[in-house]
Amino acid sequence: MGYTPTALIWKNGEWLDWRNATVHVLSHALHYGSSVFEGVRAYDTPHGPVVFRNADHIDRMYDSARMYGMDIPFAKDDICRICREVVSRNGLRSAYIRPFAYRVEGTFSLTPGADAPVEVSVAAIEWGEYLGSGAINDGIDVCLSSWRRLPGSAAPVLSKAGGHYLNAQLIAGEAQRNGYAEGIALDPLGNLSEGSSENIFVVHRGRIYTPPLSCSVLGGITRDTVIELARDSSLDIKEQPLPREMLHVADEIFLTGTAAEITPVRSVDRIPVGQGRPGEVTRHLQAKFFGLFSGETSDRWAWLDPVMPTTEHETAPNVDAATTPALAGEAG
Ligand SMILES: Cc1ncc(COP(=O)(O)O)c(C=O)c1O
Repeated sequence: MGYTPTALIWKNGEWLDWRNATVHVLSHALHYGSSVFEGVRAYDTPHGPVVFRNADHIDRMYDSARMYGMDIPFAKDDICRICREVVSRNGLRSAYIRPFAYRVEGTFSLTPGADAPVEVSVAAIEWGEYLGSGAINDGIDVCLSSWRRLPGSAAPVLSKAGGHYLNAQLIAGEAQRNGYAEGIALDPLGNLSEGSSENIFVVHRGRIYTPPLSCSVLGGITRDTVIELARDSSLDIKEQPLPREMLHVADEIFLTGTAAEITPVRSVDRIPVGQGRPGEVTRHLQAKFFGLFSGETSDRWAWLDPVMPTTEHETAPNVDAATTPALAGEAG
């Protein structure tokens, strides 16, 4: 699954041509996984593009860095602003935005200080359905992974750190080799945890369940959104540890993530979930979620962060006009 390069990437204070946004081969992050990142989506709405839960993502990125003792050398507000600008400067209406912070070159020491400083970049691409075309409407087939999530005693799993995604690659890779769209991993104690890059929800006898943060899950922003939307609809929703058998008695299962949005699961290990097609609760939550962007769900949480038209950046402070090439076909 490739992507089409866009025009500009923001790197450490400068807007660079996509091809020039590079790092040194001896970058610490490349050798030791010492990076933290976010995946953020921008959606097109009747009032123009918006970044979804921008500040919440950037808060999580700074928390991720803090868990690894990395100081991000920019203010959160600046990175939020760059996440809006990377959409408009690249002429995008909807986008997958990737802000990330990483240790660069300077030392092979595992515990670097100023000799391997932290840099920050923000890129954006157009990206459709993460788990395959039709996944959101039709649902996907998943398997139980033979890999478990990392225990919190071995790594701070709440940190969205680059190195943690070696475990995620094993989960997703095994599933895909065996013909599944995704793998579901257990936590080290054998409770349900999550997909390689999605949180999991199970509907059973009228109640929605999701594993708590103590089950080696990432504190997903879509997970939190779904919990809020379910409560807003007076649906019964509970965070609690879940045994793996819940996968087989569930009436509905769905996965959530910025990339995966709300993706129904239609089978686990070839055993149909419920009726083998997306269920009523999943459909309801999908409608509420996507309604935020069509305007059908009112944004009473102030989750939508409007992207300002590109022309306004030209007079915005902190932008170095000399390093900001003009874009053809800029979005208004
Ligand atoms: C391991 C993992 N779990 C869950 C999620 C879902 O989190 P979010 O909804 O914030 O994208 C992600 C994606 O960021 C992830 O990488």
